[in-house]
Amino acid sequence: ECILSGLMSVSGKKVLHMDRNNYYGGDSASITPLNDLFGMFKMGDPPAYLEKFRDWNVDLIPKFLMANGALVKLLLFTGVTRYLEFKSVEGSYVYKGGKIHKVPCNEKEALASSLMGMFEKRRFRKFLIWAQNIDENNRATWEGIDIHKDTVKAAYEKFGVDQNTTDFTGHAICLYLNDGYMSSPAIEAIRRIKLYSESLARYGSSPYLYPMYGLGELPQGFARLSAVYGGTYMLNKPDAEIVFDETGAVAGVQSEGQVAKCKAVICDPNYATDRVRKVGSVIRAICILRHPIPDTGDKLSAQIIIPQNQVNRKNGMSIISFKSSFQESACFS
Ligand SMILES: *[C@@H]1O[C@H](CO)[C@@H](O)[C@H](O)[C@H]1NC(C)=O
Repeated sequence: ECILSGLMSVSGKKVLHMDRNNYYGGDSASITPLNDLFGMFKMGDPPAYLEKFRDWNVDLIPKFLMANGALVKLLLFTGVTRYLEFKSVEGSYVYKGGKIHKVPCNEKEALASSLMGMFEKRRFRKFLIWAQNIDENNRATWEGIDIHKDTVKAAYEKFGVDQNTTDFTGHAICLYLNDGYMSSPAIEAIRRIKLYSESLARYGSSPYLYPMYGLGELPQGFARLSAVYGGTYMLNKPDAEIVFDETGAVAGVQSEGQVAKCKAVICDPNYATDRVRKVGSVIRAICILRHPIPDTGDKLSAQIIIPQNQVNRKNGMSIISFKSSFQESACFS
């Protein structure tokens, strides 16, 4: 909603942004201080050893940005980058056979990886080079696979890679949530492999970026953009509601007895609970650890992907971790 309010304000629309919360970003906010986070989940006061509570910024929906991905392009295009500082995430890992391994994504890493045996490494390297060298406009680079018709599975089979390799390729490089992608045309996975490699090439240690003070910086940045272009912001309106006309069409929004009329409302599902249908769910947990995650070394920030087959589940899992000194390390705009 914040991103759209920013974009619409820039393109000359009149935007009123109303929020029941006293912070921007709804479920995508980063909560600070720690007392507020504990309060949100009705957990009483945080234990004293987690001092200083004001230093905590906890994402409700943690995610990393792909350095070369669409969101970063949007940030650059709108100039919202001027309100944010980013850091490169230091590690990208995948879980296999009870251990955590670095995700290999170039030829050198493929050959050095602890993930695969000697022959498998060579097969994976060939597959990787094939995917990276594909030019969608030049059939000669496809090497016999019709990238728009043949499936990802067919491409894996052509190179003879085993299931452990397809596990980390699909989940930790292409970032698919489950194995349904295998029956899609190969081109989708190829684009994702290229995105990962190009993003990795940009900053080095991982393809991911993260805002210095948490993901909640993103909605805030776009809200600022909206305000600069004439958008009006009203936070902390717990009674905010959508107003409908007699035909059931949206007519405006209201709070404290005042109605603002409008032609369109964009909202998160919490504001229209009787008009939305639940189609799935995601389980999230926030863990405060006393120690680094084993095998991630002294990385200040890392992502670990657990492919579904490695733990006999129907969906994969991702873990995002930060060390307490994350904010003290160098950043860039
Ligand atoms: C995948 O890896 C596990 C443990 O690392 C190994 O036991 C298994 O044989 C491997 N599977 C294949 C198909 O190579």
